[in-house]
Amino acid sequence: MATTFDTVDIIRTKRDGGELSGAEIDWVIDAYTNGGVGDEQMAALAMAIFLNGMTTEETSRWTRAMISSGERLDFSGLGKPTTDKHSTGGVGDKITLPLAPLVASFGVAVPQLSGRGLGHTGGTLDKLEAIPGWQADISTERMMEILRDPGCIVCAAGTGLAPADRKLYALRDITGTVDSIPLIASSIMSKKIAEGTSALVLDVKVGDGAFMKDLDTAHELARTMVELGRAADVDTRALLTDMSTPLGRTVGNALEVRESLEVLAGGGPADVVELTVELAREMLDAAGVRDADVEAALTDGRAMDTWRKMIRAQGGDPDAELPTAAHTHVVTADRDGVLERLDALPVGVASWRLGAGRARKEDSVQAGAGVEIHVAPGDAVTAGQKLFTLHTDTPERFDRAIESLNGGYSLAPAGSDVPARDSAILDRIN
Ligand code: URA
Repeated sequence: MATTFDTVDIIRTKRDGGELSGAEIDWVIDAYTNGGVGDEQMAALAMAIFLNGMTTEETSRWTRAMISSGERLDFSGLGKPTTDKHSTGGVGDKITLPLAPLVASFGVAVPQLSGRGLGHTGGTLDKLEAIPGWQADISTERMMEILRDPGCIVCAAGTGLAPADRKLYALRDITGTVDSIPLIASSIMSKKIAEGTSALVLDVKVGDGAFMKDLDTAHELARTMVELGRAADVDTRALLTDMSTPLGRTVGNALEVRESLEVLAGGGPADVVELTVELAREMLDAAGVRDADVEAALTDGRAMDTWRKMIRAQGGDPDAELPTAAHTHVVTADRDGVLERLDALPVGVASWRLGAGRARKEDSVQAGAGVEIHVAPGDAVTAGQKLFTLHTDTPERFDRAIESLNGGYSLAPAGSDVPARDSAILDRIN
């Protein structure tokens, strides 16, 4: 008979700063998944881990136990390498949209299992659902067909992948135990490893709009995830990227799809293009495609062709008009000056309050809602110049969105020397 443990002993060990054995970890994750360990006990254990951390061995075993709680996808039959990207989430982060078809246009398969947004960071599936007809739920069989041709898919992760994490993440969300490095790293990596990709590039966001507020903790998270990936034979690398200010010029579902289309057409904001190109290079390199001319695939239409095929393969109409919100409101500069700072978090909250995001899992989102940003830090502005355009179907939301935005930017006196951000990439681990 399999060994069983006393859950209270396990909680006490972690509460008192001790180390759990591999067998204890395997048992507690399995018992939690199957209902033998209750939510109240797992909440206590998660809090003990949050407060006392986990050793490298514990984190690695915890990750493996969560992978073993469910199924693992196997892409070896595709006959081509697979590569994936995971972002820890940020405001205006629409990179998956141009990135997946861009990388697939080089003959590499890109299975992007994504989620819906909760709170101020938007979800990739919510963005794509702004495209008329597009479907997030795809069977594994159809997923394999799409990965053969056109080669990329962005779809909802099935419930069979790392079910222990699904349960634990929901519990952490309501018990103040999300922002723990071993718990975040094991949560993300268990899903990515179970998903079966052979290479993975992590985009670890740093700044007030991200989980990790400073470079040191972001480094620690990135290193932990890279080690977990490599231990599971997944070629894993990480970029650490700035999330102190929003990425690109749009935040909100259809607005972000529009901006992604600009990038796929060879244009788009410099920071979105830079990050798309750098992540594509890393993903291709990790998949064994060296020295790819990634920029050319954006300007000559190859990435756009793959995008159109991917959208069609998932039921969407790439030529359909994207939804627009019924109401707009323009925020203008009240004086001449230079935009000194534009914080990511208040812009994300404004977009969420306009209806682009949800407060509870079961809420619906407005496809057209969000914030268009007309200026970037370092830009000179004159009194009356447009700073932001707010979009929503429900105009009673404007006041609360403006309240959030107002605290999120500042103007320095005209003529001040405010440096523009020259790169969103802060560091890399590879
Ligand atoms: N995303 C995840 O999937 N898990 C976490 O713990 C945090 C972010």
